[in-house]
Amino acid sequence: MEGMQYFYELFRNLPRGGPGDNQSTRKAFGYLRNLPFEPRILDIGCGPGMQTLQLAKLSNGTIIALDNYQPFLDILMRNAIKEGVEKRIILKNQSMLDMDFNNNSFDVIWSEGALYFMGFQNGFKRCHQLLKKNGYLAVTEAVLLAPSIPEPLQKFWDAGYPDIKDVKSNIALIQNEGFELLAHFTLPKSSWIDNYYSPMEKRIDELKKKYHDNTIALQVFAECEKEIKIYHTYSDYFGYEFFIMQKR
Ligand SMILES: C[S@@+](CC[C@H](N)C(=O)[O-])C[C@H]1O[C@@H](n2cnc3c(N)ncnc32)[C@H](O)[C@@H]1O
Repeated sequence: MEGMQYFYELFRNLPRGGPGDNQSTRKAFGYLRNLPFEPRILDIGCGPGMQTLQLAKLSNGTIIALDNYQPFLDILMRNAIKEGVEKRIILKNQSMLDMDFNNNSFDVIWSEGALYFMGFQNGFKRCHQLLKKNGYLAVTEAVLLAPSIPEPLQKFWDAGYPDIKDVKSNIALIQNEGFELLAHFTLPKSSWIDNYYSPMEKRIDELKKKYHDNTIALQVFAECEKEIKIYHTYSDYFGYEFFIMQKR
C-alpha cells in the first residue's frame, strides 16, 4: 500500500500497536487456572510487545513473540533486556498466516488486537490446532457495543472492517469453534487514549512537520487523525473486548 513506510514510521514510536493496557492484560491472565509451572506461550501479532513483557512477568513461562515486522520485534527485545526478562522471550519473525509450529504445542495463546489479520474465525481454528488439550486462548477484538450505530460510524466500519460483530455474536463464534468462554470484558476507554491515541496524536504532530510537503505522508496521517476523531465521537458505540477461553 502506498505510504506504508509513513504508517510504520508513526507506529514504530508508539508504546502499543492498538488499544490495550497492562492492567487489562493482568486481569485477563488472572482467569487462567492450573497452568504448568513454566507454560509455553505464543503471543500472535505481538507488535512492540507491551503485553509480551507483562506475560513474562506474570508467568515463569517462555513466550514466543510472533510478528511479521522486525522493527517491532527489535523494540520488544530492547525493552525485555531493560526489564531482565529477555531469556524467556523468543522472537519469531513470521506471518501468522504461515505459522509452522507443531499442533498441540502451546499452553496459552495470546493475541491483543491482531488475530483478525487472519480472519477472526480462521484465527480461532488455527489456535485450536496449536493449543494443547485444555489450553487457553486470550484475545482482544473490536466489537460493536450498541444494537444500532450512527451512519458515519457504519460507513467507517464498512470501509475498514466489515466483519466487526457484537459481543454476543463473537461468543457464539468462540463456542462454535470448540472453546469454552471463561470470561470477557470491555477494555476501559483509557486503554484507547493513554497508550494509543494520545501518543499517536503527539507523534503525528511531529511527523506532519517533518513531512510538511509530502502529500502521501500527510494523507496517511490524516487517515489516522480521522480514526482518532471517530473514536472520540462514537466511543459509546464500539470498543475492544477481551475474550478469555479454554480449548475443549
Ligand atoms: C494492532 S497491532 C497489535 C500489537 C500488539 N499486540 C498490541 O496490542 O500492542 C497488530 C500487530 O499485528 C502485526 N501483524 C499484522 N499482520 C500480521 C501477520 N500477517 N503476521 C504476523 N503479524 C502481523 C502487526 O505488525 C502489528 O504488530
